[in-house]
Amino acid sequence: MYRTHTCGELRIAHQGQQVTLAGWVQKSRKLGGMTFIDLRDRYGITQLVVEADAPADLVETATSLGREYVIQAVGEVVERQAKNPKMPTGEIEIKVASITVLNKSVTPPFTIEDNSDGGDDLRMKYRYLDLRRGPLKDALMLRHRVAHEVRNYLDAKGFMEIETPYLIKSTPEGARDFVVPSRMNPGQFYALPQSPQTFKQLLMVAGYDRYFQIVRCFRDEDLRADRQPEFTQIDCEMSFVEQEDVLATFEGMMRTLFKNVLDVEIPDPLPRMTWYDAMDRYGSDKPDVRFGMTIHEITDVAKGKGFGVLDGAAYIGAIAVPGAAGYTRKQVDELTEWVKRPQVGAKGLIYIRVNEDGTLKSSIDKFYAPEDLAKIAAAAEAAPGDLLLVMSGENKRKVQTMLGVLRLEMGGRLGLRDPKVFAPLWIVDFPLLEWDDETQRFYAMHHPFTAPKPEHEKWFYSDAKEDLERVCANAYDFVLNGNELGGGSIRIHNADMQKRMFEVLGIGPEEAEYKFGFIINAFKFGAPPHGGLAFGFDRVCALFGGSDSIRDYIAFPKNNQGRDMMIDSPSAIDQSQLDELFLDLRAPQA
Ligand code: AMO
Repeated sequence: MYRTHTCGELRIAHQGQQVTLAGWVQKSRKLGGMTFIDLRDRYGITQLVVEADAPADLVETATSLGREYVIQAVGEVVERQAKNPKMPTGEIEIKVASITVLNKSVTPPFTIEDNSDGGDDLRMKYRYLDLRRGPLKDALMLRHRVAHEVRNYLDAKGFMEIETPYLIKSTPEGARDFVVPSRMNPGQFYALPQSPQTFKQLLMVAGYDRYFQIVRCFRDEDLRADRQPEFTQIDCEMSFVEQEDVLATFEGMMRTLFKNVLDVEIPDPLPRMTWYDAMDRYGSDKPDVRFGMTIHEITDVAKGKGFGVLDGAAYIGAIAVPGAAGYTRKQVDELTEWVKRPQVGAKGLIYIRVNEDGTLKSSIDKFYAPEDLAKIAAAAEAAPGDLLLVMSGENKRKVQTMLGVLRLEMGGRLGLRDPKVFAPLWIVDFPLLEWDDETQRFYAMHHPFTAPKPEHEKWFYSDAKEDLERVCANAYDFVLNGNELGGGSIRIHNADMQKRMFEVLGIGPEEAEYKFGFIINAFKFGAPPHGGLAFGFDRVCALFGGSDSIRDYIAFPKNNQGRDMMIDSPSAIDQSQLDELFLDLRAPQA
């Protein structure tokens, strides 16, 4: 037997017991003839002591141990002289009788402690060492826990976990597909699924009325802290449901996760906000509602004073930053530079200080009398002590989005975005379609399988752009602290309506048949009304763990260039492999 206990298990109650532990040497140090060894496994750390008067060969072995050696130690659990209240095992240590070196280790390239000295790239390259560290171990344990709770909840609700294929057909809408050449079908390619969307709908046609899958998805898109090229969804679909049924089921799932994993109660029922409200008040379809500082439209009160920038704007909006009236000129200038960065894209920033003494001071004093400024401040609901930040422009949604980004930044600077505070909500009533000026066509805001709201169907069949822009969908997103955790919709289940959708999206009948014929056809065989959603599993885990970055919640993630630094992938393949696939490369060889 390699071990009787783990390194996280022993307490003062085990005092006097003979135990055998196995694990990795975190560190060892000599102190007055004694050797102390921190022995680590995934359960914790236990201190081993080799006494000064221990047999010489034991002392020699103990002193020769290097970091990350794998050892087995036999000894007695004794009470520690110097207790360490920060460690769960801190009241005891093991008085070692023997040590066996199970395997040596070369010196690791960085320290394997909670705060490592290793840089990002180095830790990615030696991910298996990084995973030995406490924070990553905790992250993966949390992930396991969440998956377990999800399966329990959905199983109890009658959902079946069904796997869908990874080698499917390329039908890019939204992100780019990753493609895989087929050797047996020369010149043809599979695509890796961006989500199992069409397959789960086909499962509904097949009668599996409650499906879920914790499933890998692949999207070739630009990477960010909350985006990986391969990521995992909690993908779900239900038949014979309306929006309310879906929301109730998954609100219940999230409530259970919050309760069982974090011991956090979330409101019942969860707040809901329409997409239009979210955009108007938060400048985002994933509002962070942990704090106020909402956007106020001040177009009417701010126009007509002879200031060209505002007079010429189609929309003027403002946020009142609490307690920031005292910002120095330098601080305001810095903010102005900040909003001019390409990531925000504003042309400038107007400010009005609403001083505690009731006076107002602004960057537009030349054009606005104190009473004009007071009207603006009132319209923006600014309180004494606030700094009002104003933006304007031609396109209302663009200005709101920029104000939304500024709002998040100010919320962060004021410490209003505590990761331990959770403010989940549903965003509902999304527009079905989104017009793109560049390509002069509509795109599905969620995806092309989302149904229009029944009461908006009349507009859906109209050819007028304004009508189509008005159509809302029974689509919903689950939003937490400014992050989109999940989204879904009630689907189209009628072949003619699905054809109409492709038509609206400018996908001709032939293209629709080629790409989506299988699903249009399936809808002819008795497709039930259905709907569902998918949560970003990595994002759920990261936010539960208090992080915005999903990378640490994935055992083997890619870096921001989409590379796996550890296995050094992607990589070139042999000419013989290319030949077999009938592929010629045009890319310059790396
Ligand atoms: P959607 O595209 O909104 O919907 O994806 C669902 C959720 O998946 C997460 N997500 C990601 N997580 C990490 N990295 C990525 N690159 C990434 N992309 C998306 C997000 C998102 O909310 N088939 C539909 C769902 C449905 O309608 O049922 C779908 O995939 O948290």
